[in-house]
Amino acid sequence: MLIAHLSDPHLCPPGQLYQSVLDTTPRFAEALAQAASFSPDLLILSGDLTEHGDAESYARALDLLAAFPAPILAIPGNHDDREAFRAGLSGLPNLVPLTPSGPLHAIADGPVRVIGFDVTVPGDHHGIVTPDHAAWLDATLSAAPDRPTLVMMHQPLYPTGIGFVDAFRCFGEDTLAETLVRHPQAIRLVAGHVHRFTLTTFAGRPALTAPAIATSLALRLDPGAKAASFTEPPAMLLHHWDGERLTTHLQPVGAFPGPHDFF
Ligand SMILES: [Fe+2]
Repeated sequence: MLIAHLSDPHLCPPGQLYQSVLDTTPRFAEALAQAASFSPDLLILSGDLTEHGDAESYARALDLLAAFPAPILAIPGNHDDREAFRAGLSGLPNLVPLTPSGPLHAIADGPVRVIGFDVTVPGDHHGIVTPDHAAWLDATLSAAPDRPTLVMMHQPLYPTGIGFVDAFRCFGEDTLAETLVRHPQAIRLVAGHVHRFTLTTFAGRPALTAPAIATSLALRLDPGAKAASFTEPPAMLLHHWDGERLTTHLQPVGAFPGPHDFF
């Protein structure tokens, strides 16, 4: 099973540049085409599909996603609008269904089960795992205790060392850790939000953030560093399940010289 993972495209209304510097629509289109070339079984989008949460931007997303040749599991980020997201993607034929009210959770079954776990707080930039969230996840994980499971959120549960984004991470990590300890089949936690690839452990299992389709946050590890971004090459992750092991590959988006003979 192959899972293509894109994050943070931050689509804008026609004629607008993301943060006045970047047209994100062609970058997202190129990333989707490249992801499709790997023939994935599932596409997962870990939030910030749009920059402003407006209907025009969701209409652009729908145009770009409708032809994708695999099911799509998408959750919102802090830049999305919950109800506009729900309404805007409702016409997407290959969308993994979203919960009909409240947070926009979604579940895709397969050799690896994927749970889209919406921890966003409407109107705010950080995320939180509330006792209600944890109860939903506990019940959802309990329904398939033997299936390897990937849990996707928007904001990660851990500080990355980049202070200006860590202030807006997902809080409530103790609540989630208490839930996960009952579910060893939850083998991987993935997120977006940081606009950089990071990898650590959380509750004894690998936890990562995917790179962004939009600009990358500056790698500034000094506490109090000024927030900034760079127009680095976008990239995606490909999570490959071989029946025993889930291996994550990082693939830059673009056309590069090659293939060259290697051996
Ligand atoms: Fe973002």
